[in-house]
Amino acid sequence: MYKIYCLNNISPEGLALLTDNYEVTENIDEADAILVRSADMHEMEVPANLKAVARAGAGVNNIPLDKFAEAGIAVFNTPGANANAVKELVLAGMLLASRDIIGGVAWVRDNADDENVGKAAEKAKKQFAGGEILGKTLGVIGLGAIGKLVAQAAGAVGMKVIGYDPAMDEITVHEQISPTVEFADLPKVLKESDFITIHVPALPATKGMINADAIAQMKDGVVFLNFSRDVLVDDAAMAEALESGKVAAYVTDFANPAVVKMERAIVIPHLGASTAEAEDNCAKMAVEEVMAYLERGEKIHCVN
Ligand code: MLT
Repeated sequence: MYKIYCLNNISPEGLALLTDNYEVTENIDEADAILVRSADMHEMEVPANLKAVARAGAGVNNIPLDKFAEAGIAVFNTPGANANAVKELVLAGMLLASRDIIGGVAWVRDNADDENVGKAAEKAKKQFAGGEILGKTLGVIGLGAIGKLVAQAAGAVGMKVIGYDPAMDEITVHEQISPTVEFADLPKVLKESDFITIHVPALPATKGMINADAIAQMKDGVVFLNFSRDVLVDDAAMAEALESGKVAAYVTDFANPAVVKMERAIVIPHLGASTAEAEDNCAKMAVEEVMAYLERGEKIHCVN
């Protein structure tokens, strides 16, 4: 009987796939495998029996990959399983940055006691007006599972899309994503986009890649969206760019003490993958990966 420990809430749809050979335990010390979402495992003591960790999600920066590899513990993730959820929030982020929807909704709440709120709203609304995304250029940095869906969706709503991914070439992008996505290098994406969205993992090589130099190459008034990880963006450089107006809005899914104080940042509490559908998909994929590994030694989406 294999013992599975859940370090975060894992969707019951995923756990339901566990066969009679498995038991969900409350005691981490006896776990053969751990299912985890965002809990930080870096300082955790490694249970003696542990053979596998499956991250129900894509990012694995909460897991000490090398330490676990040295201990013979395989780590898996679930790439693509939550990609649609993140894509939908990126689209929402572009719309929230294009018009002051947040300010407008707050205005209505603030005027909730006004009997003539309808009339007053008609007068007040001009301060919340904005622009459309139709015809604007979206730069996508990273064309993996999420970047690909974002690029396709943006094209479908009439945006011009330029994509950059060091692991791809023009033919692959045209065949696997869309012939209408222009494949470009990073400087072109930075220079020509009205909106830029980043979809790369947090690695030593990508940490701080959106720094003062990268921002200086962007269009004045660009909207920058970060639904990947906060460490990709140099917060001090972004704060300065928002203050000067170089960046019109920074939409980020990662609250930290620096971004929450930025005037024109739209900060979301890491909701990218927080949909029932994505949680079910990730949990199912994670459970299947763990069972394949424990029973057959099969490594599906092993990241260490
Ligand atoms: C991911 O890495 O898959 C997303 O950021 C969502 C999550 O952390 O659950």
